[in-house]
Amino acid sequence: MSSGNPSGADFVVVANRLPVDLERLSDGSQRWKHSPGGLVSALVPFLRNNSGAWVGWPGLADSAVEPFEDEGIWLHAVELSAAEVRDYYEGFSNATLWPLYHDVVAPPVFDRGWWDSYVKVNHRFAEACAKVAAQDAIVWVQDYQLQLVPAMLREQRPDLRIGFFLHIPFPPTELFMQLPWRAEIIRGLLGADLVGFHRPGGAQNYLWLARRLLGLDPSRGNVGVRTRPGIVQVGDRPVRVGAFPISIDSVNLDSVARSRPVVQRSQQIRTDLGNPKKVVLGVDRLDYTKGIDIRLYALQELLAEGRVDPDEVVMIQLATPSRERVEHYQKMRSDIERMVSRINGEFARVGRPVVHYLHQSVDRAELAAFYSAADVMLVTPLRDGMNLVCKEYVACRHDLGGTLVLSEFAGAASELTSAFLVNPHDLDGVKNAMEAALSVDPAEGRRRMRALRRQVLTHDVDRWARSFLDALGPEQTQP
Ligand code: ADP
Ligand code: G6P
Repeated sequence: MSSGNPSGADFVVVANRLPVDLERLSDGSQRWKHSPGGLVSALVPFLRNNSGAWVGWPGLADSAVEPFEDEGIWLHAVELSAAEVRDYYEGFSNATLWPLYHDVVAPPVFDRGWWDSYVKVNHRFAEACAKVAAQDAIVWVQDYQLQLVPAMLREQRPDLRIGFFLHIPFPPTELFMQLPWRAEIIRGLLGADLVGFHRPGGAQNYLWLARRLLGLDPSRGNVGVRTRPGIVQVGDRPVRVGAFPISIDSVNLDSVARSRPVVQRSQQIRTDLGNPKKVVLGVDRLDYTKGIDIRLYALQELLAEGRVDPDEVVMIQLATPSRERVEHYQKMRSDIERMVSRINGEFARVGRPVVHYLHQSVDRAELAAFYSAADVMLVTPLRDGMNLVCKEYVACRHDLGGTLVLSEFAGAASELTSAFLVNPHDLDGVKNAMEAALSVDPAEGRRRMRALRRQVLTHDVDRWARSFLDALGPEQTQP
């Protein structure tokens, strides 16, 4: 057992990915770009303002990278082989856990070889963390790819305070029970002092499973496990369990959206689109949980029924490339691209497509300009832990313009109740909400946006991180 690292970092974030992603270019050279996804978008602003280290994978197989500093954060790379990227990352993380935790919208694959790789790689992350963390440091483990790290790290470094936060939904218990390695995952998380979820339902499900899977199994050596709301007692160690809804760096994004270049760019986008009466926007990682197909179906039917006029309405779909070697993602991409062509084939005119589809990532200022240019924002996931895109849209609408259509199955729906809330499984409901959002009375639209902004601007990512870290503090952990 290591006795700690006196010269190490006092605050360490560990996540599957580093906040920057190594990209290999066609000429063989490499460059860093921003990593995709909400976890990185949320944590980077917090870490930039609070010194710390970040342990994670640089995004390319077989890449050994020395520790380096980026925007005030010390980055420590964990190397993965090509086989580990296939089995631990694309396999167990993104073809087993991701679909299982998102309501099995795609069938999860249970593969024993992938699980072995998940265990091995989680060990490697725990070891890397144990080396980087100073004596008595705080280590904050992130997300579903690293659920075994809390217990593995505690084994090596009992001096640390360990927090864990799950950025995706924690599933209903009957779905979680399908997982052949369910007890191992619950036990892995119990290595933390605090386990956080977006929603109280996730915390309750986790507590139920801790009792059911570990409390009733004396052979596992957990006879002493008992639960009461919010706390699991593991021997003499209390583990707190709670809900901490994540958010964005709202004030900063608000000021980016107010800046002159972004305002001008947003006007330019509308001009480039031919100054349509209404601009509809979708912004997502290209993921089958996001319901991109649903909004395209809805648009197609509205156009076919004459309820939306292709001369007046234009849709933009920005889609960040994601997990491109995983089969479900490949199929979804071709389905979506086929639907975009079908809509344009049927309803566009020369030089006037109805749907503009960009399979690209754009930078923050450009994204703020798109948000500012959009009259209607469509966020229609079948299941989403939180969804930061809808909060970003709201943060950019200082003009109180714009209308948000939001799925009830995004974690954000319980906070953003003034949006047009929809059940994405109900296509007619989605169509009605889109039509209502396109024709909303301006005063009603401003009233809704004002209420949304009150929520997003007062509940930012700093408040989220502080509430989690306060709950992790030693004085909070006494049962
Ligand atoms: P997830 O974490 O599942 O990807 P979120 O909505 O929580 O979903 O977070 C997505 C993040 O990725 C947001 O910060 C959003 O701005 C960013 N993003 C999504 N699509 C794009 C894009 N095409 N270009 C740039 N950023 C994007
Ligand atoms: C979601 C997950 C993150 C992940 C991100 C991007 O936000 O919660 O853990 O990093 O998607 O996915 P990727 O597989 O590219 O890291």
